[in-house]
Amino acid sequence: MENLEQLKDQLLACVHKASNLNELEETRLQALGKKGKLTLMMKNLGQMEPEQRKTVGQELNLVKQAISEALDQQKRQLEDDDLAERLKAEQLDITLPAREQSEGRLHPLSQALDSALEIFGRMGYEVKEGPDIENDFNNFTALNIPAEHPARQEQDTFYLPPNSDGEDPMVLRTHTSPVQVRTMLDQKPPIRIIAPGRTYRSDYDATHTPMFHQIEGLVIDKDITMGHLKGCLEEFCRLFFENPNLQLRFRPAFFPFTEPSAEVDILWTNNKGQEEWLEILGCGMVHPNVLENCGIDPTENQGFAFGMGIERIAMLKYGITDLRLFFESDLRWLRHYGFHWFERA
Ligand code: DAH
Repeated sequence: MENLEQLKDQLLACVHKASNLNELEETRLQALGKKGKLTLMMKNLGQMEPEQRKTVGQELNLVKQAISEALDQQKRQLEDDDLAERLKAEQLDITLPAREQSEGRLHPLSQALDSALEIFGRMGYEVKEGPDIENDFNNFTALNIPAEHPARQEQDTFYLPPNSDGEDPMVLRTHTSPVQVRTMLDQKPPIRIIAPGRTYRSDYDATHTPMFHQIEGLVIDKDITMGHLKGCLEEFCRLFFENPNLQLRFRPAFFPFTEPSAEVDILWTNNKGQEEWLEILGCGMVHPNVLENCGIDPTENQGFAFGMGIERIAMLKYGITDLRLFFESDLRWLRHYGFHWFERA
């Protein structure tokens, strides 16, 4: 018994002395390993008288338990010390400025989107977002797009597999216009929102990618006119393209969700020095059917809406010629067209 007490103290001392996990494991093996001191003593119990075996066995178990607990505790302590040391050694000062040759760049699409949102933000627009997966009502029906409209046909729209409850299949939204519907359904006029986001169409060439981005605008109040629409878009384009004399042209067009509708062109000098009109967005006065579909009384309220492709305006502003390059993640392209944080608007 005395020996056992001594052994316990000796082993405990070893445990506390272990200054790293290897040493601790050594100590564990010495005590509790296959050939460990306590293990061997346990084996010897078999040769004892039953009475003696019982008392010594109990004592041994207590010692074993004490050693196990001490081992666990020491292990945790050593691991904590280890972590604290590593945290100290690997400390990073994240407040330091980036190194000059730092490789990170802001994608030109993010840059274009940020500056567009900043401009509309200053005009008092609120940012709204909607899901990429939309229902048929929000993407088409509420927007006065009849069942036979070509935009609904399979070659343009990505449909999700039909669900079993017989409802129309969900779609990957083909434009950001459903955010107009979502907004009008849960908010009463006055409304002044801008909705950026991803949109999807089954199309692929130098000017079309299956996923692209749009910004949608919607303003509804009692006396909003086409004049407000023109003023707002002119102001936006001049600020965005950083040209106070930029010329815009409103051309009559057709969209099911606006009446009257227009497409807007800007007068642009191409790389051969020639001026040309380039279309950048669609817009119009929100169709009374759309207001009604969204629970807004068209005899009391009216307003305008517009939608533009972010890739389109980014390509013009930054001189990018192939739309597909936006999504190829080619580092040489990103280095050339990307923005440093200190260049941000
Ligand atoms: N949703 C249209 C498209 O994707 C763009 C558009 C046109 C949006 C006119 C509007 C609008 O809000 O009034 O082609």
